[in-house]
Amino acid sequence: MADRKSQVEEILAVSDLRKYFEKKAFLRRLEVIRAVDGVSFSIGTGQTLVLAGESGSGKTTIARLILGALEPDWGKITFSGEMTGLDRESIARIRRECQMIHQDPYASLDPRMRVIDIVREPLDIHGIGRPAERREMALGALRDVKLDADDVALKYPHMLSGGQRQRVAIARAIAPKPKVIIADEPVSMLDVSVRVGILELMKELQERDGISFLYITHDLSTARYVGDEIVILYMGKIVEYGKIDDVLLHPAHPYTRALVEAISEPDPDNLTTEKKIHVNPTLDINPYQGCRFRARCPYAVERCSDEPPLEDIGGGRFVACFVKPD
Ligand SMILES: Nc1ncnc2c1ncn2[C@@H]1O[C@H](COP(=O)(O)OP(=O)(O)O)[C@@H](O)[C@H]1O
Ligand SMILES: [Mg+2]
Repeated sequence: MADRKSQVEEILAVSDLRKYFEKKAFLRRLEVIRAVDGVSFSIGTGQTLVLAGESGSGKTTIARLILGALEPDWGKITFSGEMTGLDRESIARIRRECQMIHQDPYASLDPRMRVIDIVREPLDIHGIGRPAERREMALGALRDVKLDADDVALKYPHMLSGGQRQRVAIARAIAPKPKVIIADEPVSMLDVSVRVGILELMKELQERDGISFLYITHDLSTARYVGDEIVILYMGKIVEYGKIDDVLLHPAHPYTRALVEAISEPDPDNLTTEKKIHVNPTLDINPYQGCRFRARCPYAVERCSDEPPLEDIGGGRFVACFVKPD
């Protein structure tokens, strides 16, 4: 994978990342959920990597592992070429240089704080700038996200629209001048009419400041708009990885195909990917043996009960499928 990014310096990389959870199942039996199971990818400076997959595929868990909010069972995370750990210094560094934008701008902003204090808080936490400068820095961040800073600074989150709140969340994320922003489904809870404005803003800030993005989404329709590369995740494993146009215009994995078909579906009442994906009802199988997608895959053959490796098919493209139908 190294030569793929020879022109662009790598800012964030995860390697063989794993996180399993235990869940109490029927009759108090413990069931192991392999939320993240051997995931490796890297993001180049100033680039956007899209992490896509259905709900439950492990996207948020990956974000939490990167930010040190969860301890990985296995694997390593490097930031600016340095391995991150769970010691306080390492977590403080990653939380300063790697900011997060959450899905729900209603839940992620403290309702008791004024906008100016919400945006200023990370500067105080990380001791960025002199205390006397921080208010001006926060106002500058509000202007950067195209809000009327004088108007919104003293307001509380509930006085703003969903789109304005997400702009405040972005202002808070950029205020400490991070190198990376992890945006976890940043527009999925917003009105369709304000989504493009938020994505435009993220792109503009990226071009201005050279910020790298990990853009997490379950919906491919916004992915091509923002992304340079894409990772398609299925049940904690990467099934396909490559340049975004290659992957979305010529999907190689049957799961990627199903996701791409789901977004070209014109009927707005039929936008769930589940409806589009063929289910093979004859297979009652352990999902962690062999290809995890095989129970739902229209192309599954006997060989798929072995695990397909993530294979380099050239041009910076990786696919985990024995069949690769055309
Ligand atoms: N703290 C946790 N404890 C137990 N299971 C969890 C925990 N966090 C996530 N999971 C499980 O891990 C899987 C992946 O979850 P998540 O990373 O939130 O997926 P996504 O963000 O792609 O929707 C899901 O099956 C979820 O139920
Ligand atoms: Mg999630």
